Amino acid sequence: MKNIAPGMDRICGEGAFEYLAKAQAVEREGGSVLHFEIGQPDFPTPKHIKEAAFKAIETNYTGYVAAGGIADLKASIQEEIKKTRGFKPGADQILVLPGAKPGIFFSMLALVEAGDEVLYPDPSFPTYGSLVKYLKAVDGAIPVREENEFRLDPDDIKKRITAGTRLIILNSPQNPTGSVMTREELAATAELAQKHDVYILSDEIYSKMLYDVTFYSPAALDEARERVLILDGFSKSYSMTGWRLGYLVGPPALIKKMETLMINALSCTASFVQKAGIAALEGGQEDLHKMMAAFRERRDATVKGLNEIPGFSCLAPKGAFYAFPNIKKTGKTSREMADQLLYKAGVCCLPGSAFGPSGEGYLRFSYATSVETINEAMGRIKKSLS
Ligand SMILES: Cc1ncc(COP(=O)(O)O)c(C=O)c1O
Repeated sequence: MKNIAPGMDRICGEGAFEYLAKAQAVEREGGSVLHFEIGQPDFPTPKHIKEAAFKAIETNYTGYVAAGGIADLKASIQEEIKKTRGFKPGADQILVLPGAKPGIFFSMLALVEAGDEVLYPDPSFPTYGSLVKYLKAVDGAIPVREENEFRLDPDDIKKRITAGTRLIILNSPQNPTGSVMTREELAATAELAQKHDVYILSDEIYSKMLYDVTFYSPAALDEARERVLILDGFSKSYSMTGWRLGYLVGPPALIKKMETLMINALSCTASFVQKAGIAALEGGQEDLHKMMAAFRERRDATVKGLNEIPGFSCLAPKGAFYAFPNIKKTGKTSREMADQLLYKAGVCCLPGSAFGPSGEGYLRFSYATSVETINEAMGRIKKSLS
């Protein structure tokens, strides 16, 4: 067999899928596992969204559609951005995608070449670092510190930024820590990008999932016309992970180039899924509000429970649905502890190190499960560590 392209050895998978497979193996052997590994809301997709997709399929809206997205979904996204970010982008600034993830892939393919530096938070969503390595870019991972509530500090960006920096990736609210950068921090980062002529990819997939803080986008700087790209989607806010629907908002010339990547890789995003996206944005938001009320209760139960475990300490996350407890006092590595909790307590969470070197000494709990399950998990952990 001929060799596989060496770049394939630089790209990596995700800890969430690795631990899900380990947990499933335990379950196949008859063990009981409580799941905290996958970042996916446990609520069904709201009824009116499903109905919009059924209707589209029934009326045979099932063919290829425009590569960059159908006009009526783009119009809904324009209104959505106006409502949530305070400016109305042009239709030529929008690229509809099958999920948010291809937006990370395409942005990096379109902007980053070997030797360009990419600054991004450590720990963070594993795709960022994986693509940095795949593209042979200079790895500019910037530690986010617990002392700063895991928020990326613009002063750290200022110290790291060089003439070779091409892109800054921001993610607020953040996976895996649940941190939310302040308006001042995001505005300061946007100004730094402007000063150094650098792009920002602002991954805002958790923008609707906040507790007592308001959302701010660095796209306020240039209305996503020059250097800021907004990445958002439907997976988390509307419980649509398997539908695959997301979008980018950015500078028209760059969006046009990425539309060519869509044509080459995917042709278009599924037609009837886009119709469902319109229903999500334009329909009632009650399901989202109910889900966030449930997540708040679960967050409180998770944080309280984790703080009662000897050797664990956990800050209250301000967004998303992840808790990121510090376990350094237990003397175990993240992986040792995640494995011990899986095999001895039947609780599956992720090692913080799966999100980057600065995640060592932490665990990630996705609290997309009931308060009863959370309480049972905390009881099991306490018992197994005592
Ligand atoms: C920070 C972040 N960005 C992007 C994604 C991908 O979203 P999607 O499922 O819409 O591709 C995730 C999913 O976990 C995420 O946590």
